[in-house]
Amino acid sequence: MMDVGRHPRIELMTNSEVESIAGFVGNFNVTVRKKARYVDPNECTACAECTKVCPVAVPDEYQQGFSSRRAIYLPFPQAVPSSYVLNMNDCLGNNPIACGKCAEVCEKHCINYDDQDELVNIEAGVVIAATGMEVYDPTEYDEYGYTRFDNVITSMEFERLICAGGPTGGHFLRPSDRKTPKSIGFIQCIGSRSRDGRGNPYCSNICCMNTVKDTLLLCDHYPGIEAKVFYMDMRAFGKGFEDLYMRSKEEGVKYIRGIPGEITKDAQTDNLTLTVENTTTGRREEHELEMLVLAQGVIPRRDGEQVKKLLTLSTTSDGFIMESHPKLKPVDAPTKGVFIAGCVESPKDVKDSVTQASAAAARASILLNAGKTKIEAITSRIDPARCNFCGICAQVCPYNAIIAPDRKAEKAPTVIQAACAGCGACAAECAQDAIIMRHFRDEQIMAQIEAILEINPHQHLLTFACNWCSYAGGDNAGTARLQYPTTCRLIRTMCSGRVDEKFVIHAFRLGAPIVLVSGCHFSDCHYINAVHWTQKRMDRLWNKLDKLGIRPERLRLEWISAAEGQKFAKVMRELEAGVKEVSEEEIAHTMMVLAEEEAKREEKISRRMVGVEG
Ligand code: FES
Repeated sequence: MMDVGRHPRIELMTNSEVESIAGFVGNFNVTVRKKARYVDPNECTACAECTKVCPVAVPDEYQQGFSSRRAIYLPFPQAVPSSYVLNMNDCLGNNPIACGKCAEVCEKHCINYDDQDELVNIEAGVVIAATGMEVYDPTEYDEYGYTRFDNVITSMEFERLICAGGPTGGHFLRPSDRKTPKSIGFIQCIGSRSRDGRGNPYCSNICCMNTVKDTLLLCDHYPGIEAKVFYMDMRAFGKGFEDLYMRSKEEGVKYIRGIPGEITKDAQTDNLTLTVENTTTGRREEHELEMLVLAQGVIPRRDGEQVKKLLTLSTTSDGFIMESHPKLKPVDAPTKGVFIAGCVESPKDVKDSVTQASAAAARASILLNAGKTKIEAITSRIDPARCNFCGICAQVCPYNAIIAPDRKAEKAPTVIQAACAGCGACAAECAQDAIIMRHFRDEQIMAQIEAILEINPHQHLLTFACNWCSYAGGDNAGTARLQYPTTCRLIRTMCSGRVDEKFVIHAFRLGAPIVLVSGCHFSDCHYINAVHWTQKRMDRLWNKLDKLGIRPERLRLEWISAAEGQKFAKVMRELEAGVKEVSEEEIAHTMMVLAEEEAKREEKISRRMVGVEG
């Protein structure tokens, strides 16, 4: 942090918040709110005279509330810049009757009560999101007594208590009587790997090794301390981690396989009794301990939604930001020119965060050094002659890559080519067919449908599969040698959001018994929220088919991921069974109804054309 603060080419903006990000790769315009700190960081010498006279005392967030701070304070000992800040929510104000003492004693006169927030504009070529994570609050696990029993603390609180710069100067004391405990327990997976509706289902990655490190610290500082770790299973993967785990065991730390179900407190001694089923021995055990640490898991930042909106990113079902490709582009966000690093992407330790940050910086510098970027040849373009200026395309675009039309000026929308990712949702939603997707043009997809249904259409399972998940799921089924019907015919689109209503209708008009549209699971769509438009469109289509007397069940929608080869094969087998249920009469009726609809539509268009010409 110090190095970053001193680096001549890095501008560090602390106490600041990004308000908006506009533009696209190479041309981001970022608005940052530099919050008022009321102390000039360039003048402040961190002499601490101000803090000595400040009469306010509030819990110190950095010390997890174990000690207090003043209204004017140094956020933490190694803060960069090394300057005090004044928290106006705590301050009594510059009213001589109320206070104003800090300004009086500041020899450098660097305290300014009238300081204001400042909006700063930054032109950026690329953006790296490294907004980190938060820790899980274990209060809802009431059986562990956190907040009810003083001597039950979290792993974050443990860090402060054992730290030399902590509230106890590095002396590990239990909160109830400020004595060093002789026995201590750790419960793992608090808020992680949970399926009971509390916490999160994923593994938080760092807690096992953090506890191993904590036990080693305790054994080092207090030889003879009795430490017990209650766990489901210890995950010590990573360089040197198994050795560390073994060392902890050699130091005498006891690892007990089982998560305590109940904790009680002795009113006299404040000691805690844990009841646990030891799943190795199969016995119920009771352990009396003087202190307990809950190894809390990691959660996405609570303001993650804001970051997601600012950068038009998507998140996984766990709430962490999704990468462009887990193996090939692990630090690229789906939005071009945006990279991700650290726990914003998933829970990880320092080493992995540094590795990922270095990778993100390297990826970003490739773009910056090149000064230009290649775009995929699958972007959209507008045909102004067909556009009726409705602006739906601009609303649909997950990347804000379409500049909305100007109806009054009769100006058609424009696609920012560098920002377009080629999902095709805009083209599928445009009722005027005014959007052309390069390499996924309407005519090209229609031609594929016609080719598939040219011979024996009633035997074919026509499937629209998105490139990233469903199509890869089909591949997976193939490479795993899973059996699925040979009548299955796939049409690949980049996203299920590209599947236009007219493709499905055309397929039914040509005699398709069943049509399947398949895409990524909702939170996995590679084009942020384009898959939501797939769902909406399919809802509309089911209604339409129903009204026309066509069984809506003949149009299926499935979410199949790249790893779900099994599901892909299963769906195909189910569909084949469904095909057999569609009689030739039903298909003929559908074809007739849709042909009539098409004739009506064409007539309407020609009448409108005559009207225009007349
Ligand atoms: Fe698969 Fe959008 S990329 S549904």
